[in-house]
Amino acid sequence: MNTERYTVTAALPYANGPIHIGHLAGVYVPADIYVRYLRSKGRDVVFVSGSDEHGVPITIKAKKEGVTPQYIVDKYHAQIKKSFADFGISFDLYSRTSNKVHHDTASEFFTVLNDKGVLEVKTTDQYYDEKAGQFLADRYIIGGCPNCGYTEAYGDQCESCGTSLSPSELINPRSALSGDKPVRKKTKHWYLPLNRYETWLKEWIIDGHKKDWKTNVYGQCKSWIDQGLNARAVTRDLDWGVPVPVVDGQGKVLYVWFDAPIGYISATREWAAQTGNDWEKYWKDPGTKLVHFIGKDNIVFHCIIFPAMLKSHGEYVLPDNVPANEFLNLENNKVSTSKNWAVWLHEYLEDFPGKQDVLRYVLCVNAPETKDNDFTWKDFQARNNNELVAILGNFINRVVVLTHKFFNGVIPERGALTAFDNKLIQRIADFPDVLSLNFENFKFREALNTFMDISRLGNKYLADTEPWKLIKEDRERVGTILNLSLQVAANLAIMGEPFLPFTVEKINNILGLDKKQWNSAGSIDLIGTGHQINEPTLLFEKIEDKAIEFQINKLNATKTDTKLGNKVNDEIKPVKDTILYEDFSKLDLRIGTIIGAEKVEKSNKLLKLKIDTGMDRRTVVSGIAKDYSPGEIVGMKVSILINLAPKKIMGIESQGMILMGEGDDGKLAFLLPDKEIVNGSVIS
Ligand code: MF3
Ligand code: ZN
Repeated sequence: MNTERYTVTAALPYANGPIHIGHLAGVYVPADIYVRYLRSKGRDVVFVSGSDEHGVPITIKAKKEGVTPQYIVDKYHAQIKKSFADFGISFDLYSRTSNKVHHDTASEFFTVLNDKGVLEVKTTDQYYDEKAGQFLADRYIIGGCPNCGYTEAYGDQCESCGTSLSPSELINPRSALSGDKPVRKKTKHWYLPLNRYETWLKEWIIDGHKKDWKTNVYGQCKSWIDQGLNARAVTRDLDWGVPVPVVDGQGKVLYVWFDAPIGYISATREWAAQTGNDWEKYWKDPGTKLVHFIGKDNIVFHCIIFPAMLKSHGEYVLPDNVPANEFLNLENNKVSTSKNWAVWLHEYLEDFPGKQDVLRYVLCVNAPETKDNDFTWKDFQARNNNELVAILGNFINRVVVLTHKFFNGVIPERGALTAFDNKLIQRIADFPDVLSLNFENFKFREALNTFMDISRLGNKYLADTEPWKLIKEDRERVGTILNLSLQVAANLAIMGEPFLPFTVEKINNILGLDKKQWNSAGSIDLIGTGHQINEPTLLFEKIEDKAIEFQINKLNATKTDTKLGNKVNDEIKPVKDTILYEDFSKLDLRIGTIIGAEKVEKSNKLLKLKIDTGMDRRTVVSGIAKDYSPGEIVGMKVSILINLAPKKIMGIESQGMILMGEGDDGKLAFLLPDKEIVNGSVIS
């Protein structure tokens, strides 16, 4: 038999942080939906991904935390792998690029290109940090972006405007290691001459894939090609990565973007070895369709550079499609691992146990397929309560409950069909093809909305036929209605599997059915008369405001944490010398209350305050007039240093000092106790 063969890949996430909803919506949820659909169609599919464990962000993180890069990648690889599995991403293999198969595969690939004379070797001047004794590749060098002026752009990319850069383009470059101005030093590297592939790329993409690639993908490729392509170095002077497998490549490794996509091949080899398959069929047989699921920041690597590598190697198939998504934002801000602005998958799985499908649903229905989109917790709640619970869950529950109530859970016979029934049957028969077309064109949002129409249709059929009213007078008719409704439910279990695998398993359990393949979809003979179904279980439950508030508060807390965190890292330095406790104990700090306040004449900065310190009432002159008016502070508690030597300020004797901090709004802030404390209490 001639089954269509597919190799489906999902971008290898960097093993320097956990998986978040941005990754899921952009790459892993659509990839998993597609693969589940293909498998249901009986296609021959291998679905691979793995951790991207090389590259400068990982070595920089390791250095910052004082651990080895291997420690970092071991930690995140284990976490990522587990969270994908728990979330139901059905990889055939989730591998990693630090393993031997991958090092071997990437080395071989490089060797083939090098032996064929594909690669160019050039010695050029590159930035070098003399203090650190290291060349400064990619993120090891920071400077001004020539495009937008952002002063913290990296040697490979400006994170502010997204432009990809090379170190020599940076304005006022400095080393990320020492902060020093780098010197230039000669070094030898291997280059992939993309310029030589320009004509071919034009033919292959611009002429060949105008119709079948998504417009966002095609547009980015075209603009890259139109700007003209240059040779790109595929090696680096680093010690973390796949060593360059030639004699004069010592101390150098393959560029992470050269080795990582080869990781798809390595993972397929590893899977084939484990399962007794032939990996080469999945990469070299011209009948195999290679499909890469990625985010939009990966387009150039998957549509131009990796295909040029595959093409120049000569034995491999080229990607058939690269359905890249745009980005998913979170509550109106860009998701960011470094800023900790994210919903982390492993935390979601803990906070919402058993609710994988709710997140899968929300991420698919809001998928950033054609433009950036926004995830909000309120929308998450609404989608669950108004769609999953109210439409899908409700339909299944009604059918099952009515079947138990009227027929003791035994599928009733289907009697004579009315024109109304036939209309339902026709519509059910039409769904599989409509959905297939959506899946095959990577339109998963549309597919999911279409899928939900099946439940809508079922609910409407029940509402229109009102079996609960008919039962007394026409039991046979009710049997027909429920029989058909149960067939609709069984259809949901087939056509919903790509989106909601956990729910579908529950539906099959309730209906007492085995998992069925796509070719049964559309039929109304999925459950036989006389078959006994099981008791209903809850498919979805309402998500309460409290759970949503908890998530929103958690996010907001991250925001403050990050602000403080960043300051701790970069800005706040211990500027004063260490003191002994004896020194600290010399300060007489107390709680007091402001009992009077007035402006100090001829000053716009100062207020004259009267403070009740518990033991006396004293005057303190305080520089807070810009941020507070006298009227708003009388009655407030304060922290006050009372044994500061008195001092005349603008002719007024000040007898102490109020302690103030700086608020997020940049204005002064009082330091207040969090519960009642009497005036005069000691702060220690
Ligand atoms: N690690 C990269 C990222 O997160 C993706 C690598 S995809 C691969 O952006 F093709 F290189 F594997
Ligand atoms: Zn920029």
